[in-house]
Amino acid sequence: MPSNVFLWLSERRQLFEFIKSNGLARKLASRFVAGETIESAIAAAKILNKDGTRVSLDSLGESVASREETIEARDEVIRILDAIASTGVDGNVSLKFTQLGLDIDRALCIENMSQILSHAKDLDIFVRIDMEGADYTGRTLELYEELHETFGNVTGVVIQSYLLRSANDIESLIARRARVRLVKGAYAEPPELAYQDMKEVRSSYVELMKRLLDEGNYPGIATHDERLIERAVRYVEEKGIPTERFEFQMLYGVRRDLQKKLRSQGFNVRVYIPFGCNWYPYMMRRLAERSTNVAFMVASVLKEMVSRK
Ligand code: FDA
Repeated sequence: MPSNVFLWLSERRQLFEFIKSNGLARKLASRFVAGETIESAIAAAKILNKDGTRVSLDSLGESVASREETIEARDEVIRILDAIASTGVDGNVSLKFTQLGLDIDRALCIENMSQILSHAKDLDIFVRIDMEGADYTGRTLELYEELHETFGNVTGVVIQSYLLRSANDIESLIARRARVRLVKGAYAEPPELAYQDMKEVRSSYVELMKRLLDEGNYPGIATHDERLIERAVRYVEEKGIPTERFEFQMLYGVRRDLQKKLRSQGFNVRVYIPFGCNWYPYMMRRLAERSTNVAFMVASVLKEMVSRK
C-alpha cells in the first residue's frame, strides 16, 4: 500500500474510534507507543536510562479544537515535567504547538507555552517543539523565535530536510544559537515545498547536518537511516568534533540495535517516547515509513483470525 495512503488515513479522525477498539491496532501501537499514562512513559524511560540512553517524552496529540483542550494539554505537559523532576529520569519533553492552541488563537498558544517554559526553566528541563506539516512551518518558527527571545535555550525546535526552505531556516537558527533537531520530515508535502525524491531528501539532510555539526548548538541528529548515521560519524571523526557537542535521536521501538551500537561507541543517544491515548495519527505516520510495519500488521491480523477459528 502506498505510504501516502497511511498519511491520508492519519488525518481521518473518525476512523480512530473504530480502530482504537481493535486489539490488533492496539498491539501494533504498543510497538511504537509506551502506554497511555505518564507512569508507563516514565517506566519506559527508566529502562532506557539504565544503559545511558536519554529520552524525550511526548504526550501524543495533534491539533485541538477548543480552549479547554489546550489547557488540558498544557497541564499534561506540566505534569510530565514534574514527573521527570520527581523521578530523576534523564529526559526532556517534546510537544506540538497545535496541541497548545496554534490553530485557535496565537495569543492563547503563547500563554500556554509561556507557562510551560517558565516551569521548565525552574526545573531545568528542556522542551522541544516538534515540527508539523508545512502549513505550520512559518508560524512555528516565528512563534519559536519569539519564545526563544524570552526563554532562551530551555526550548528548541525541529527542521525537516525535505523542505526546500530549510537551508535558509537553519542559518537563522544557527545565528541565534538555537537548539535544533534535524529530521527528514514525516508529512506528505507538495513538490513546490518539498523534495519528493529520497536521494534529494538525504542529500539535503547531509548538508544541513554538516552545518549543525559545525556551528549548531548541541544538535539532535534524528534518523534511523544507517547511511546518514555513518556520514555523521565519519564527519565528526574527520573534523574532530567531540561527542558531547551533539546527540543522535531515534524513535521508541525503532532500530533498538542501532541505538545500542551508538551508545557502545560512546555517542549520546536520545529516544523519543510517545505515549497517551491519541496514538492513531502517530502510528499511521510510522506505518507510512516502512512496509515491514504493514507486513507486521497483516501477519497479526491473519494470526488473530486463525486463532479465533
Ligand atoms: P528512513 O525512513 O529512511 O528509514 C531508514 C531505516 O530506519 C529503515 O530502513 C528502517 O530500518 C528504519 N525505520 C525507519 N522508520 C521506521 C519505522 N517507522 N519502523 C521501523 N523501522 C523504521 N518528523 C517530523 O516531521 N516532525 C518531527 O518533529 C519529527 N520528530 C522526530 C523525532 C525523532 C527523534 C525522530 C527519530 C524522527 C522524528 N520525525 C519527525 C520523523 C522523521 O521525519 C522521519 O519520518 C522518520 O525518522 C523516518 O525517517 P528516517 O530518516 O529515520 O529513516
